[in-house]
Amino acid sequence: MASLVSKEEMLKQEKYIATVNSLIKGQGKKAFVYTLGCQQNEADSERIMALLLKMGYEKAQDEKEADILIVNTCAIRDHAEKRALSIIGRFKHYKVARPDIVIGVCGCMTAQKHRADHLKHSYHYVDFTFGTSMLHRLGEFVLSALNKGKRAFYLDEATPEIAEGIPHERESTYRAWVSIMYGCNNFCTYCIVPYVRGRERSRKMCDILAEIKDLVKRGYREITLLGQNVNSYGKDLEDKPTIANLLNEINKIEGDFIIHLMTSHPKDASKEMIEAIKSSKRTKSHFHLPLQSGSDDILTKMNRHYDIERYLGIIERLRENNPDIVLTTDIIVGFPGETEEDFQKTLDIIKKVEFDTIYSFIYSPRQGTPAYSMEQIPEEIKHERYERFCQVQNEIANKLNQKMLNKVYRVLVDGKSKGNEKMYTSRTEGNKIVHFESDTDYTGKFVNVKITRADTFNLFGEIIN
Ligand code: SAH
Ligand code: SF4
Ligand code: F3S
Repeated sequence: MASLVSKEEMLKQEKYIATVNSLIKGQGKKAFVYTLGCQQNEADSERIMALLLKMGYEKAQDEKEADILIVNTCAIRDHAEKRALSIIGRFKHYKVARPDIVIGVCGCMTAQKHRADHLKHSYHYVDFTFGTSMLHRLGEFVLSALNKGKRAFYLDEATPEIAEGIPHERESTYRAWVSIMYGCNNFCTYCIVPYVRGRERSRKMCDILAEIKDLVKRGYREITLLGQNVNSYGKDLEDKPTIANLLNEINKIEGDFIIHLMTSHPKDASKEMIEAIKSSKRTKSHFHLPLQSGSDDILTKMNRHYDIERYLGIIERLRENNPDIVLTTDIIVGFPGETEEDFQKTLDIIKKVEFDTIYSFIYSPRQGTPAYSMEQIPEEIKHERYERFCQVQNEIANKLNQKMLNKVYRVLVDGKSKGNEKMYTSRTEGNKIVHFESDTDYTGKFVNVKITRADTFNLFGEIIN
């Protein structure tokens, strides 16, 4: 069971925060946090910003005016790391112009020793980097940088702890992330996450429920439960609560709100969990279940611990008595050793299941993972397969969108679309984006919309009273 960061340590951190506050008070210092990567990083950045505000910084509207810049990085694919390095590179000019500014880098990229070392040796203007389980120590790191202490490069502990009680400066007033667990135990052979986020550690159910109750009371309408594999929630806790137990408890909370789960692993999708998803109006509209490949051979090489038959069984159960459920998935194209036949199997299964949305990725070798040293497929083959994959999926997405025509959906409104004063964007409870025209601003509220136009990537509708 993961232990909590001790009260003494949290109090010590409070003192660092208060000291930073007294150092910068009244100076109008501003902070900017740049976020790359997944929802977990977005949630972490909301906590980073909350800590910076506690230290006395104000939110900068633009990176150029910031006195402290934090880059929260991702390492999932090469592209993500290149982007992080290019952003950090751009920040050099700010430091040259104003040597007093503080630059920190955190997140999954800096949790890797070779990356932290690279930043230390080649980016001399970076004041500190830290791993993914240390953001509660931000006050300490900032104070040290302000006092012109040594540059510092912190790597995560082997058994990281959970820090409760850090506030969130949430980006939205109606959609919220709630981390229910951290880390991953699965070691899929392509994936860097277990190396940069440590082993699975679940938050206690009472802490999660208290956070959700508070959010609902404050008017939040959509809550996404975050974890790399929420299906194994609770396995490391003393009383062994399950994700189904957690969902059932969340369902008892009064209020008009919906729940998404991000993400589930098919190997741990229990009957109990599927029933909990289907039986609640809060969860039954959408499920994201990463498939990764349609070939059993490739799934074995990926260390996924399920086969296509099992995956299809879960889909069948999810759709039983619940045929309208929106299903989404992740697919990797061009994993080492993927043959044309394996790839065809992926095309076959996506045609068979008909996912509403697929987050598809070209395989990117990650240093330190087993697949990195497997025999790689030529880049041009990966790209060519990816193109074919997108063509097939686009046709399916278009067909499914057409089926929504003239039907009415409850949507949560996200605000004005860019470029048109009266156009708003929203998401259905199944997480599909719908645009509609309105004279009234319903941002943050649920409204009913009838779908009037659909193409591959867009749905348009009109408000129904
Ligand atoms: N824990 C989540 C996934 C987090 S990463 C899960 O298991 O579902 C999100 C997605 O990125 C993965 O599902 C996978 O499809 C993709 N991904 C991970 N590593 C990758 C790599 N090395 N190359 C390409 N895509 C990758
Ligand atoms: Fe990566 Fe697999 Fe863990 Fe997901 S379950 S984070 S894909 S190792
Ligand atoms: Fe990226 Fe880390 Fe998320 S590697 S996808 S930010 S868990």
